[in-house]
Amino acid sequence: MCGIVGYIGKKQAAPVLLEGLSKLEYRGYDSAGIAVRGNGGKIDVVKTKGRLQLLIDKTENGNALFGTSGIGHTRWATHGEPNETNAHPHVSEGGKIVLVHNGIIENYAEIKEKLLSHGYTFYSNTDTEVATKLIAYYYEKYGGALEAIERFILRVRGSYAIAVMFADLPDRIYAARKDSPMIIGAGEDSVYLASDVPAILKYTRNVYYIENLEIAVMETDGVRFYNVDRTEIEKMPVHITWDAEAAEKGGYEHFMMKEICEQPKVITDTVNYVLKDKKIDFTEIGLSDKLIRATKRITIVACGSAYHAGVVMQYVMEGLARIPVRVELASEFRYRKPILERGELVVVISQSGETADSLAALREAKRLGAKTLAVVNVLGSSIAREADFVFYTKAGPEIAVATTKAYTAQLIAGYLISLKFAVVKKTISEAASAAITDGILRLPAQVEALLSDRERIQKFAAKMTGTKDVFFIGRGIDYALSLEGSLKLKEISYIHSEAYAAGELKHGTISLVEEGTLVCGVITQETLAEKTVSNIVEVKSRGAFVVAVAAQNLLPKIEKIADFTITIPETAPQIAASLAVIPLQLLSYYVSANKGLDVDKPRNLAKSVTVE
Ligand code: G6P
Repeated sequence: MCGIVGYIGKKQAAPVLLEGLSKLEYRGYDSAGIAVRGNGGKIDVVKTKGRLQLLIDKTENGNALFGTSGIGHTRWATHGEPNETNAHPHVSEGGKIVLVHNGIIENYAEIKEKLLSHGYTFYSNTDTEVATKLIAYYYEKYGGALEAIERFILRVRGSYAIAVMFADLPDRIYAARKDSPMIIGAGEDSVYLASDVPAILKYTRNVYYIENLEIAVMETDGVRFYNVDRTEIEKMPVHITWDAEAAEKGGYEHFMMKEICEQPKVITDTVNYVLKDKKIDFTEIGLSDKLIRATKRITIVACGSAYHAGVVMQYVMEGLARIPVRVELASEFRYRKPILERGELVVVISQSGETADSLAALREAKRLGAKTLAVVNVLGSSIAREADFVFYTKAGPEIAVATTKAYTAQLIAGYLISLKFAVVKKTISEAASAAITDGILRLPAQVEALLSDRERIQKFAAKMTGTKDVFFIGRGIDYALSLEGSLKLKEISYIHSEAYAAGELKHGTISLVEEGTLVCGVITQETLAEKTVSNIVEVKSRGAFVVAVAAQNLLPKIEKIADFTITIPETAPQIAASLAVIPLQLLSYYVSANKGLDVDKPRNLAKSVTVE
């Protein structure tokens, strides 16, 4: 979702801004623009619809724009179609104020009315132009930039990260945020601003996290921070230790394939985070045995693939720790007036830690008095900062919009949390716990083996490019995994796909099955295998072409019925999703790549969904 960058220093700003925007491309966007303060003091704005490359070409790699300070933006359209007029930066009358924004100003219509009555006119359909002119209005009225931004913060509802330049205040960029991510990096004689760390990592590792309702004032020699009442606040930078390389393609054609292949390491790193001498140690997470014992119910909230990881966790936690678990979409949870009981733990799963609905759900859970545990990948993200306890998944930076390795890390976190609860609550024997732990420790090598045998899937995927509809079916954890397999396929290949609990198929969906319809059956759960196989026979007898992803030991049950089988190594049923997801990811990847689609940046999608 929209990406923001800013730079003030001694270098030519435009190439730095464009480079930063290219690092944020993964967030998803449909237009882009930059604004640079020229040597004469005038702020030049250049915008394009479509890919960033068009902006790079239009500005000759940024070399056509002179000046050492500027802001830039990649826009993911919310208010108004993706075109050059609606693209950011937006400018106030006479070019006095230039602004970029990520988020949604919810009361923009009402503010627009007010500004219209004061004689302002509007050229775009965006809430951002309204924000720009609101700041212009306050600046005119009160005279100070800080005061104008403070008034803006107090007046608007919704979410925003904004970067603002004032034409008559050279050598300064102002920034503020509420519920939309933005960080500031301090280099030598230069200050950088971005929606996310990878955009500035090439220049500096010293990063400031701006809190909600804080204002930053960037100048060449440093940055100052203010509260909304304009009192200056002290802030210490965080030193980023991970490597910029981690966010580069490293020889792979797409980030998605690179990230799929990183999964063995991701599993190892996430396991090593809490497994000490084969015992799960939650000291770093802060969740005490006492609190675990006192937990009577768990609600898991998340969006997208993180929600699917939550569905797997629900089965594993209920099975192992015998605690009732409910898993819910964050966008539903936040508005349905949830009833949380004493002893309820709310688990929020989020790769980015910035998803607007998940963050709101976390706040709602806290407001209702529940204890909260975040399972988050991005260090220092909003959800990580606001939750009572944090389990950091160790996936490293994930760039492809369609998640793979972060989902895998979320599964691992789910197993380890469930196992910890089961051990503390004594709902499983030591031997059973040790067997699952050993199984988890074997996963990296098993995933490696599945990855090394990907050519077969690639060949099969080549035949799937013309497919119009796919149904994924499974029971129990296999159903939870079907949800993810189906999402993966549709989001990057644009093939219509649905996931169904296999037993539900005959309550309607089977009417869609006809000669050649592709059905993917997931069969890793021994106790449910025969039931799913019966459902597969039902679709097969109506002409379906069946792909089966089956555990080695269950293969004899399905081999003769399926048209194409993919086998996964044997493991404990609770953790089988970590193996079965690999061929599903590969299948989606190869179908998308074969169709020549933009695998890493599928249309209309954003990596980090910071608006609701
Ligand atoms: C977007 C991404 C998905 C992700 C979902 C939740 O839709 O494209 O890959 O699963 O947001 O994101 P989160 O950062 O909260 O895990």
